[in-house]
Amino acid sequence: MSAKKKTGTTAYRCSHCGYTQPRWLGRCPDCGEWNSLEEVVVEDAGAQASRAGRPAVAPRAVPLSAIDAQDGARLPTGIDELDRVLGGAAMKRSAILVGGEPGIGKSTLLLQAAASAGTKGRVLYVSGEESAAQIRARADRLGLPASRVEVLCASRLEDVERALDELNPVFVVVDSIQTVHSPDAGAVPGTVNQLKLCAHELVSWVKERDAVLFLVAHVTKDGTIAGPKALEHLVDTVLSFERNDDEVRFLRALKNRFGSVDEIGIFHMGQRGLSPVEDPSGLFLIKRAGALPPGVAVVPVFEGSRVFMVEIQALVVPAKGAMTRVFSDRVDPARVSRVAAVIEKRVGLRLSDQDIYVNVAGGMRLTESAIDLALASALYSARTDLPSPSSTAVIGELSLAGEVRPVSKLKPRVKAAIGLGFPTVLAPEAESSGGEGSSRAVRDIKEAIASLFGKGAATGRRE
Ligand code: TYD
Ligand code: MG
Repeated sequence: MSAKKKTGTTAYRCSHCGYTQPRWLGRCPDCGEWNSLEEVVVEDAGAQASRAGRPAVAPRAVPLSAIDAQDGARLPTGIDELDRVLGGAAMKRSAILVGGEPGIGKSTLLLQAAASAGTKGRVLYVSGEESAAQIRARADRLGLPASRVEVLCASRLEDVERALDELNPVFVVVDSIQTVHSPDAGAVPGTVNQLKLCAHELVSWVKERDAVLFLVAHVTKDGTIAGPKALEHLVDTVLSFERNDDEVRFLRALKNRFGSVDEIGIFHMGQRGLSPVEDPSGLFLIKRAGALPPGVAVVPVFEGSRVFMVEIQALVVPAKGAMTRVFSDRVDPARVSRVAAVIEKRVGLRLSDQDIYVNVAGGMRLTESAIDLALASALYSARTDLPSPSSTAVIGELSLAGEVRPVSKLKPRVKAAIGLGFPTVLAPEAESSGGEGSSRAVRDIKEAIASLFGKGAATGRRE
């Protein structure tokens, strides 16, 4: 193995994207930047460890029973919606990347979390974006207890590391990781190379401390910026902060080593910062006076542990050519095609010569099979121009034979629907008889269509 010398080997690394390769080239083969390759010494693992101030000890296996489970203790941030998305609370010794477009509320959220985590130990808020005075002004406006948080305005990695060693905090926010740089990562600040090295060093710090590290990352609207993507594998958890409308914000986990990625946090951005949305189950409903327009159906869906009422919208128009298409980015197009085929075969309503468009109000992505019957109802309504009754919600999975199949957690779905003004709920027959007194059981698609659109509902063209 001639490549393995005492300290490492020479290689050429692109200062723009970090791509490393053995020979010098005028242009980086990865990102296409000209004259960006610099000669570097690639350290082997032992040299890397000793540079980070740790002896290069070979790791040794230990019996599972001998490991202290306390290693994984959690630290609540005190912000319930944030803790929910993290899987109950933040895991100690973990790094959490919080991404979102500028102005979405990342700094606000993490300052609020930092202030409430201040009861657990020392808290360090590193800002490379705002002055200490700006941060203080925000804390005052939010009514946060300022004495609990130590603020460091710095952007050099070495300064941040020194503060970490001095304070030994339990809760650290670095806002943002894009502003941190180190001379070790080449002359140009802001490169992916810089981003990776600085994040790597900070994550290595938290791995050995009973602390939690939040890294803020700006992501542009289309989410394609190379930077934060390059960090996703370095951290334990990746959270994305998104906008629903002007005031409502969603926090979701794109990756979570310590919890599910199904839970969403829902915040309202107001005068006093971010607060939880009290009862979010009706958030996605469109409020209308009077009858529903054709092509619309309402279904209660589960997102994590909470139920939300959502409106499925369908539009069908005759296909122009011989090929028909399904346009649906919130519901799997394969599900749309399957449900359309069931309607055509079991109800006798032709859809195979139509282009089908499906949308979900509020932009939620629906993956549950419990939406099948509502989707069928929206498609039927769109094709026939018959609106479904505005007081009815629809639940159920559809088999290819047109039967309405049971779904999980029926009771809370029915309860949510009734609570939000849908006194009639069409649902599969409950396995445990009796309990679901308030829903109307339907056995198959035909029965459901008759119940929604009347016994004589057209089963064919109405033109
Ligand atoms: P901020 O947390 O600075 O966003 P980010 O760090 O993601 O860039 O939030 C900025 C926006 O939030 C700004 O437009 C002002 C608004 N805001 C409020 O509406 N209420 C508040 O209490 C605060 C602190 C900010
Ligand atoms: Mg900010």
